[in-house]
Amino acid sequence: MIEAENLTKVYNGKIKAVDHISFSIEEGEVFGLIGPNGAGKTTTIKMLNTLATITEGKASVNGHDVQKEPGAVRDSIGLVPQELTADDELKGIENIMLAANLHHMGGTEARKRSEELLKLVDLDGAADRRVKTYSGGMRRRLQLAMGLVHMPKVLFLDEPTLGLDIQTREKMWDYIAQLNREKGLTVFMTTHYLEEADSLCKRIAIVDKGVIKESGTPAELKRRLGGDILTLELGEGAPDLTEFFKGIQDISEVTKVAQVYRIKLPRTEKALPVIVEAVVKKNIQIVEISFTKPTLDQVFLEVTGRSMRDEDATESDSMTQNFMMERAR
Ligand SMILES: Nc1ncnc2c1ncn2[C@@H]1O[C@H](COP(=O)(O)OP(=O)(O)OP(=O)(O)O)[C@@H](O)[C@H]1O
Ligand SMILES: [Mg+2]
Repeated sequence: MIEAENLTKVYNGKIKAVDHISFSIEEGEVFGLIGPNGAGKTTTIKMLNTLATITEGKASVNGHDVQKEPGAVRDSIGLVPQELTADDELKGIENIMLAANLHHMGGTEARKRSEELLKLVDLDGAADRRVKTYSGGMRRRLQLAMGLVHMPKVLFLDEPTLGLDIQTREKMWDYIAQLNREKGLTVFMTTHYLEEADSLCKRIAIVDKGVIKESGTPAELKRRLGGDILTLELGEGAPDLTEFFKGIQDISEVTKVAQVYRIKLPRTEKALPVIVEAVVKKNIQIVEISFTKPTLDQVFLEVTGRSMRDEDATESDSMTQNFMMERAR
């Protein structure tokens, strides 16, 4: 449904926002692009949506080349952009009808479809209110309805749940999951809420500085982190068991602070009994034992590092530097 090959965007001849990325998305798939601020997510969506020119490489959506058949691409897609576009002065229903008209839908058909969609996003009660009286959550839901009005084959969602409360976020994803399940809608989404990507996306690509760093199913990405983390606290006076743990098959990493060990276990079910049995045999007391499964947040941090990435970060870094220089003087 979506193909990108060496897709590249350079703004103003110097800012490389997207750097030769390639991916392929099946019909009916939910695909997530995640990455820090400024990673190139919105730019990628804009190129696939014909809203930004492609500097290098190529892409197709629903079998149509983005550069050669932009009209056919636009007919195939719905977009819920990061920056909301609904007209404040118009009523909710008028905004959807306008979106329908832009997609060449006629009067009765447009009205019927708009009413259906308003119901789907729980805005039927507010259809005749001007958008400027809507809350943030209502605006996002309206924007979703606007993106769906022409029954697109692919829906692009650029941080559709940004700033929404947890109930509204859940509801939003419920509609989307329902459309995906029942109508086979293909979904291309970005989000900074990684637990959303984890539960919704069949596949995820982690992008940083315009480059895809990792991709796979959420489970594959987590497995690549090296498995679960076992935290084991031993009784006071216990000998240092770091080397002993490292010698157990499959254990790659062991760190120790005081009597607390953090052990990376690629296969918990195999290693855990071996560790416990060995410690008990040595007559060492286990004070506490717990283990955590890796989360997508951990994968994300491992892949992209922990520093802030956008222009603000650069600015604040240089502010810190200036401050330090002032102090040095
Ligand atoms: N119109 C533009 N002109 C010049 N540079 C731009 C333009 N739009 C985006 N950029 C730059 O391209 C890079 C990628 O921006 P983009 O908006 O694609 O990031 P993003 O991953 O969507 O970030 P966020 O998570 O903050 O939405 C950034 O360095 C940004 O400053
Ligand atoms: Mg963005």
